[in-house]
Order: sequence, then C-alpha cells, then structure tokens
Amino acid sequence: MLQINNELRKIMPRNDDLEFFLNELKISIFKRKPDEKIRSATGLVYERLKNIGAYKGALSSHEVPVTAWLDKAIKTAKSGPVGRLAEALEVLTPKLSWQTRSDRHSNDPNWLKSHANAVIVGDMGLEYRTDIRIGVSLLAPNTVYPNHQHPPEEVYIALSDGCWRQNNGEWQSPGPGGLIYNRPNIIHAMKSSNDPLFAIWMLPL
Ligand SMILES: [Fe+2]
Repeated sequence: MLQINNELRKIMPRNDDLEFFLNELKISIFKRKPDEKIRSATGLVYERLKNIGAYKGALSSHEVPVTAWLDKAIKTAKSGPVGRLAEALEVLTPKLSWQTRSDRHSNDPNWLKSHANAVIVGDMGLEYRTDIRIGVSLLAPNTVYPNHQHPPEEVYIALSDGCWRQNNGEWQSPGPGGLIYNRPNIIHAMKSSNDPLFAIWMLPL
C-alpha cells in the first residue's frame, strides 16, 4: 500500500493553493538576491519539495488567542513589498493549525496568549513530510519570542516589521520582505514592535 501511495504521489499534482504559495515563497526569497547560505538552504528545501508529500487538507484547530491579530497582520503584509506572498498565504490560513510553545521559556506572563506558530509543510502541516518544515509565526505587539536553538539551519522571510537577533548581538530590523539566516544551532530570538510580527520560516531537516 505504501508503495502504491508513493507511486500515486508521483503522478498527482500538489494542491493548487499550496503549490501557488510555495512558488510565491521561492520567488519572494530569490527576488531579494539572497547570500550563498540562504540560496543553498532554500535550494535544498525546494529540491526536496520536488517529491510531493501526503496532502492532509484542513487541519484540526483550536482557539489560540494571538490569532486575533492575524487579519491585521495579513492586511498589512498584503499592502507591502511581499503582498503577493501574503495573498497566497491568506488562502491557506483557514486550514492551518496554530500552536503555542510552552517549552520556550519566556518571562512574559502573557507568552502563551501572545505567540503562535503554524506548520504549512512538514509534520503537522497541510502537506505531511519529515524532510523539511515550512511554517509561519505570529507575535502580538510588544512580544519577545525568547532565545532558542535547533540543529537545522533556518531561513526566515519577514512579512512585517519586527526584530531578529542572534546570540547576544544587536537586534536587526530587516523590514517586510527582509531575509534572515540562522546557521545550525545558533541561539536566536525575535520580537515585535507596536505591531504584530508576522514571518514565514523554512528548515531543511
Ligand atoms: Fe528558529
């Protein structure tokens, strides 16, 4: 049965909305003439995307308070330099499952109400697979997503204003459409300003 499923996936196209989003994401990243590390990590993710994973469709969702900021975040992103990407993401958002991270240790008593992530492609994503992960993060205004690290390298594209930091370096504000590269295991964090922070990330696993 597993082999039949794999054969079927080779001839079945990816869900149109997801394919459109993934194309817009790639275009948005390469349009900004990324450095070699971002080109390489993004290239690896898209090489793996040539194999199509199982499409899960709409995911079961539960109430996550920060999603009250989602409409504003999408509306702002749509009017900026990554407008087409934000439009492609907007089509997928009703199907996503937003999750909070209780394992990210924050001093903010509102932490669990003021952030969420949703996987688009990957385990717990619209397309299930374990070789890559592509998702989106949303922070309420004036929220710090605390220091964390992970073995895979990571590329972000910001859809909003907001700040990113590595180790104890200066906070950087790439602006909407800006790219961020986190090398494997580097400690990194992000924080929002007076507006929500909205960003897409990808990791080759
Ligand atoms: Fe990260």
